[in-house]
Amino acid sequence: MGFQIAIDGPSGAGKSTIAKLVAKERGAIYVDTGAMYRALAIFFIDNGIDGDDKNLVANKVKSANVELKYIDGVQKVILNGEDVTARLRKEEVGNMASKTSSVPEVRKALLELQRDMAKKNDVVMDGRDIGTMVLPNADLKIFLTASSDVRAKRRYDELVEKGETPDFDSIKADIEERDYRDSHREIAPLKKADDAIEIDSSNMSIEEVVDEIVKAIKE
Ligand code: DC
Repeated sequence: MGFQIAIDGPSGAGKSTIAKLVAKERGAIYVDTGAMYRALAIFFIDNGIDGDDKNLVANKVKSANVELKYIDGVQKVILNGEDVTARLRKEEVGNMASKTSSVPEVRKALLELQRDMAKKNDVVMDGRDIGTMVLPNADLKIFLTASSDVRAKRRYDELVEKGETPDFDSIKADIEERDYRDSHREIAPLKKADDAIEIDSSNMSIEEVVDEIVKAIKE
């Protein structure tokens, strides 16, 4: 069993940026479990499957195979043999993932893969249920949050940087809707593990958050 750090929290809290830096600092691999749910979402989109039809999603997920590969330490997500990494961050993919990740068969399909990676490697794994469900005995658990205003502003700035003209209010509404869905689903909802350290990154820089986590590892 390798060294395990679990980082959970709502979307846009900065989990992946922070997790990547902590992984580098520790010489561990970064496992982005959201990317796995997103890869399955691409499968559902490409096959014209309605994400609200839970029975159909449960049935079709059997035909999807997700693998993670690391090329120069960078995670690549392979769906049925095809590299789908470039499509993962699209808005429609995130929305589909948020819907379909509430289906037990979808979660079951990924749970074993996630645990297996943590068995074979030192990992920093981020998601929604890592500390509560996937790695309940992780060496360190972090629950990373930020206000929905701050998270929406970060997303807004990201899109402006890409040359897009986003609408702040609709981004914020989208984030709040996703928070609600992620934390109210019946199975493995987004929730702070009892033994997790909560960090609110609203008024913190990336470096400050990383420093706090690195300090916690050493304690
Ligand atoms: O972190 P993210 O935005 O890439 O995640 C996309 C969706 O996947 C998110 O809305 C909830 C789901 N997810 C999950 O249910 N459990 C995880 N461990 C990670 C993500």
